[in-house]
Amino acid sequence: MDWGLKNRIASILKPNNGRGVMLAVDHGYFLGPTEKLEVPKKTIAPLVKYCDSLMVTRGVVRTSVDPNFPVPIVLRVSGGSSIIGEDLSNEEITTSIKDAIRINASALAMSIFVGAKYEHNSLVNLGNLVNEAQEYGLPVLAVTAVGKELEKRDARYLSLSCRIAAEFGAHMVKTYYCENFEKVVSSCPVPVIVAGGPKIPERDALALTYNSIRAGAAGVDMGRNIWQSQYPIPMIRAVRAIIHSNYDLNQVYDLFQKLCKEYPIGNNNQRPSGNTPNQNRPQNQQSQPRPNQPKPSQKPNQQRPSQKPQPQEQPQKQKPQGQKPQSQKQPQKKPQQQKQPQPAAAQAKTQ
Ligand code: R5P
Repeated sequence: MDWGLKNRIASILKPNNGRGVMLAVDHGYFLGPTEKLEVPKKTIAPLVKYCDSLMVTRGVVRTSVDPNFPVPIVLRVSGGSSIIGEDLSNEEITTSIKDAIRINASALAMSIFVGAKYEHNSLVNLGNLVNEAQEYGLPVLAVTAVGKELEKRDARYLSLSCRIAAEFGAHMVKTYYCENFEKVVSSCPVPVIVAGGPKIPERDALALTYNSIRAGAAGVDMGRNIWQSQYPIPMIRAVRAIIHSNYDLNQVYDLFQKLCKEYPIGNNNQRPSGNTPNQNRPQNQQSQPRPNQPKPSQKPNQQRPSQKPQPQEQPQKQKPQGQKPQSQKQPQKKPQQQKQPQPAAAQAKTQ
């Protein structure tokens, strides 16, 4: 692999563990002013130091991201349809490689729509984008979009989409978590990154992150479950603790609750009432068994960058009190199954 390509991937997926925390803030490209992302600068500024990379459009980079803060940019370069339009799968490449380089993007991202009306277009566009990006050592992240059909999020469909994206030359693939996610990861020869999807209770979003990593994902590209939370900084720090410090679900939820006491709620600069986070989990999930400190599995056949990590702020360095450190030899338990949320119509399309 070319040095530049490796170096850019290493800025997104850290070479020490091949993992990364990507903050997704590109939703406006088809959703307009999404809730809690109405003023992108306000949403991004407090969170950017806790992510490894930022997934964003060129319009928001230029208007709302501080160029003096060295966060790797994963630039969304596809679009062309809106949530009120006829067909979300009708996307083209809308940002040139030249402009991506001018922005100093570390990777390009585009959506593919396998099985949709414009499947052919999106796949040919992916092939062409990889052809061009490869010339400049720019990695491509293929986003396996499902349009409004969230029910497509099962292992059979997502394995198909991810594998096709990798076969077309995508260097990384973004998809959804689902039951039997190990199957999606093991049949995709490039790193798989998991999207958060529509907002769910915090503990469930942390479970989704934990289960994804344990199934072999290289990280998350999470948006709404971070910045639509009343506790965005505690959420991103907790997600980070799973991905980079191998926290298990109990440990990380303890950490999250502790962090909630340290940060003002939402944008109104007040302490959370009762100092407790949102615990509105569905009843049937309250009693689910919790995993017991398994070690997240590493995917053997992913291309792993080998450079040293760039200096990154480590938001938390302490393990929760009274918790044993994770052991390499502990047996892995089956990941908790995630209850898929029923999104509101305006949130339907997620990629
Ligand atoms: C969709 O518009 C984007 O590609 C998002 O980056 C992606 O859906 C991840 O964001 P979220 O975690 O909110 O689903």
